Amino acid sequence: MAFLTEHDKIYTTKEDICAHVGDDYADFMGAVTPPIFQTSLFVIPTEDNGVGELGYNYTRVNNPTIAVAERKMAALEGGEGALCFGSGMASITAAILHFVKKDSHVVMVRSIYGVTRVLLCDYLTKKLGLRVTAVNGDSTDEILAQVRPDTALIFLESPSSAVFKLQDLKAIADFARPRGIGTVIDNTYATPLYQNPLTYGIDLVCHTVSKYLGGHSDIVGGVTIGSRQRIEQISGERFLLGANMDPHQAWLMIRGIRTLPLRLRQHAENALKVARFLEGHPYIQRVIYPALESFPQRELVNKYLSGYNGLLSFVPDGTPDSIRKMISKCRHFQHGVSWGGFESLIVSISVGAGKEDAAASDVPVNLVRIHVGLENAGTLIEDLGQALKYLRQ
Ligand SMILES: Cc1ncc(COP(=O)(O)O)c(C=O)c1O
Repeated sequence: MAFLTEHDKIYTTKEDICAHVGDDYADFMGAVTPPIFQTSLFVIPTEDNGVGELGYNYTRVNNPTIAVAERKMAALEGGEGALCFGSGMASITAAILHFVKKDSHVVMVRSIYGVTRVLLCDYLTKKLGLRVTAVNGDSTDEILAQVRPDTALIFLESPSSAVFKLQDLKAIADFARPRGIGTVIDNTYATPLYQNPLTYGIDLVCHTVSKYLGGHSDIVGGVTIGSRQRIEQISGERFLLGANMDPHQAWLMIRGIRTLPLRLRQHAENALKVARFLEGHPYIQRVIYPALESFPQRELVNKYLSGYNGLLSFVPDGTPDSIRKMISKCRHFQHGVSWGGFESLIVSISVGAGKEDAAASDVPVNLVRIHVGLENAGTLIEDLGQALKYLRQ
């Protein structure tokens, strides 16, 4: 757990925060990058039974390298504090458990990350008796109409990570907060650079660090950001559940964040070129990318997003078999499920899914998702061009 220091507040632009928040040169012997405090234990004076004057006693509780990563994230999201976790799912689980108790009701947007959906609709439903109402999330009224007297939480992922559906964060927070209903958002798609949900009144923001924050496909991690009071409470839960990040992971996360603005700009520039190519291709039925004029929720995009990234989806005009073949023929896009690293990836999200499966997750049948990496855009377009021919062969 770490909170912003007075010194952190001198950095006010996203680029400066990414580069410098947490650079405590005097504490780190002048080192420009903070050291990896690869230690489980911190000794404390015998007269002190707590955490000692430096605030550390055991890495499951807290660690100086992890604290630097947390301060960067708190500053980037406009929160008072942040908590890093061993994975994005751990950060999401902690945020959900913060608000729900046995038999609570939760309203959830259908198009959220599949594992979060299983956590809410299956695991926590069976374990805690949660009652979950899944909504399409097409309009604020549709979401709020499902709120009941026992609703403890509205869970959002906006934009979501397969069809990029957005919700009106301010309208939902304005409704939920006075009624004591918690709001949590998975903000991974937008990153803290392009959308700050806390500023609209959302209670807790979660990110998987495994995507753009890390940026190099070499770490799995998560982070939750919010008010001092909430972060203090969740810190106790993180300690009990043993879900803290590892210091080396945190160090890689800090390094990733330093170049986040640069990388995102390049991902988005490449992705727009690829998206326009796909939109003009005769074998493509539909391209879903928030930066395109054809994106259905342009109003919400303009209201909430200040930038884009490398993730986009499309529906090819093909059979499940021809789509699989097309994917297998890519040479530069590798077949893989994640996103947010330097590399280009392609994956089928619902190829051949039964209509019911697809409707359950609000994802169109035959949806293919690509992550446009930092390679040369021309190479990537050429690669897709040659692979798309296999939809007809
Ligand atoms: C949008 C989104 N949220 C959360 C997660 C979970 O993150 P992690 O894999 O770090 O647990 C993922 C992982 O793919 C994701 O895409």
